[in-house]
Amino acid sequence: MNARVDINTDFVDPDDLDNNPSANPRFQDVLGKGLQRRGLLRGGVAGAMSAMFAPLALTACGGGDDDVVISPPAPPPAAPAPTILGFSAVAKTRADTSTVPAGYTAGVIIACGDPLAAGVPAYKNDGTDTNYAQRSGDCHDGIQYFGLSATGTPDNTSSSRALLAMNHEYINSTFLHATGPSALPRPASQTDIEVDCHGVSVVEVAKSASGPFAYVQASTFNRRITGTSELQLSGPARGNALFVTKFSPDGTKTRGTMNNCGNGKTPWGTLLTTEENWSGYYFRAAGDQALRTAKLNASFARYGRTATAAAAAASRYGWETSGTDDKYARWNTSVVGTSLDGSDDYRHEWFTQGFMLEIDPYSATSVVKKRTALGRFAHENGAFGLPQAGKPLAVYMGCDSQNEYVYKFVSTANWSAADATAADRVATGDKYLDAGKLYVAKFNDDGSGQWIELNIANAAIAGAAFGFSDQAEMYIHTRIAADALGATKMDRPEWVDVHPTTGEVYITMTNNSSRRVVPTGTQSKVDAANPRAYVDVRAGQTTQSGNVNGHIVRFKDAAPEATAFTWDVYLFGSEAAAEPTLINLSGLTSDQDFSSPDGLVFTKSSGLCWIQTDDGAYTDVTNCMLVAAVPGVLGDGAATTLNYGGGNTVTTRMGKKATATTLKRFYVGPFDCEVTGLCETPDGKTIFVNIQHPGEGTSAANIADPTKYTSQWPGNAGYGAGTRPRSATVVITKNDNGMVGFG
Ligand code: FEO
Ligand code: CA
Ligand code: CA
Repeated sequence: MNARVDINTDFVDPDDLDNNPSANPRFQDVLGKGLQRRGLLRGGVAGAMSAMFAPLALTACGGGDDDVVISPPAPPPAAPAPTILGFSAVAKTRADTSTVPAGYTAGVIIACGDPLAAGVPAYKNDGTDTNYAQRSGDCHDGIQYFGLSATGTPDNTSSSRALLAMNHEYINSTFLHATGPSALPRPASQTDIEVDCHGVSVVEVAKSASGPFAYVQASTFNRRITGTSELQLSGPARGNALFVTKFSPDGTKTRGTMNNCGNGKTPWGTLLTTEENWSGYYFRAAGDQALRTAKLNASFARYGRTATAAAAAASRYGWETSGTDDKYARWNTSVVGTSLDGSDDYRHEWFTQGFMLEIDPYSATSVVKKRTALGRFAHENGAFGLPQAGKPLAVYMGCDSQNEYVYKFVSTANWSAADATAADRVATGDKYLDAGKLYVAKFNDDGSGQWIELNIANAAIAGAAFGFSDQAEMYIHTRIAADALGATKMDRPEWVDVHPTTGEVYITMTNNSSRRVVPTGTQSKVDAANPRAYVDVRAGQTTQSGNVNGHIVRFKDAAPEATAFTWDVYLFGSEAAAEPTLINLSGLTSDQDFSSPDGLVFTKSSGLCWIQTDDGAYTDVTNCMLVAAVPGVLGDGAATTLNYGGGNTVTTRMGKKATATTLKRFYVGPFDCEVTGLCETPDGKTIFVNIQHPGEGTSAANIADPTKYTSQWPGNAGYGAGTRPRSATVVITKNDNGMVGFG
């Protein structure tokens, strides 16, 4: 997410907050895969031609002496073999449109407000629509593809029918109401819309024989999970005293999932979705700190909900002001009741948020569980290591705030390949995601690293001033436990994904305005894994400092349960024209340069790495984008020393520099958007890409004047009614029916 228009005028993007005061297929494989694929295509064409000419050849050779010999026509010249990244780079642009390379087509398949149930009226897109619990939510983010057979069963090979499961991270509230959002106290009707616009959508999509994908409005698979849905709390913290609320006196359930950012897919065919900047949705009253223990106040502070005697922690949208009904009161996470355990109010509601959720998309009535074993922090997404039969499963995760950490969960259960098709997917999730070890990463300067377990038995945790009392607390106050272990503060860990053949893990560090060569206060000092800090000055824009353009870290575990790893920096974001020894370290050209990598997804069909941006630094030149990469391999570069002068140097481990055949801009989104979330059909011929918050910079004061909207997409592309911009899913295909990412 980027800068936002919000109800609370004091609102600061939680992504930008620093609440951490603590002191502490290889390239050849991919190339080979491409060659092999070209070989297969050639074979296919040759085979087809043999079949085509066979009858003619028989006729020509079938007669006696008088027969006229007809020579078969010369075969047409062979079409050029598809080349990975063989498309022409898309130029940087600020146009309010969706731009793909020549030879490709981008359409829109589902946008904010589209109806997801039979009988729900078409979206008018004028601020008068209601019933978002049966419409697509807002601010599309992570997206996953779940193949469906013709009979509606899971089918990982289906490229023509599927369920798309996508996150709706937050809201562009300016456009959800007829005249924009009202001031406090918020009208209940507006709050209901905004809460329902959050969460997750599961949407059936299908392709006709000749046509593109379309979504199926009346599909019984369609599902919305919103900010009010009832959800189970599962795993080691289930039933914890800090989960006790008026809604759930035994601490086993809660309502709603908020700020779902990236997501992931389990090896058994369910969705992992995350709660990222959930903390700020909750109001905490002035004086509440006096009613809490020092321990809980420390936890509130570490997750950004400090209240003082004089000042409340204001909520992001003010939903708690919409009335006395329980569904509004729950957004006030203050002590208001008289009970000792919190069973008569929502003082603990805030503690039930911040987890990884698992959803079975194939059942619209399946129980949704918050998997507490994977920890509580600003979850960006989750990616599984390559499953190995008889070994534990690893899930890699980032905590996206400045100077936060990278985590790994390792299951207690060993992987059984038969579970990939288990009928009870929720039970399979129980097996692998409710018990295991949670680790946090320490990146050493020499290119090595350690996974340190968050375990109460660790002397550093047992002795921490916070006063951890049991293991369950690791899963609730996770950041504080990680602080005690000396984890490495990173430049905002965003999406993580795993290379489909090498198993190497790639994780974006989007940017960090709190990184410095010579830090002061809570700023972090440059280190080997986060080596850049500089000043970006641009006319008409605010000067930005720190790691302005972000980078991508890559690491490898020898085994899922390994406690040591090796790492390097795969790629540094930069403007092409930036200084080359401190900023444009990867040698990006104008066909490749990007800033603030956020989404990162490997497509299994091709092994390509797709990098998406959520930027506020290069936006004077270009809208956010999607860059395609042929990734290298850990260690393919060299140790590189950055000399900042004054005796300040830092040596990083750098991946091989980008070349024209390893990195190319594939797509640029409409104005004022973030490009985030990507999935593909198994045949690699269609990708779905989410466009979040186009036109977000529009002032609510200009709601009546569409000429002042900073974007009118996708209406200006012919999709749907009205001129108000809408978050939407883009579907991209190659015009020759080839694989996406090839020329
Ligand atoms: Fe929601 Fe970290 O981006
Ligand atoms: Ca971001
Ligand atoms: Ca993100």
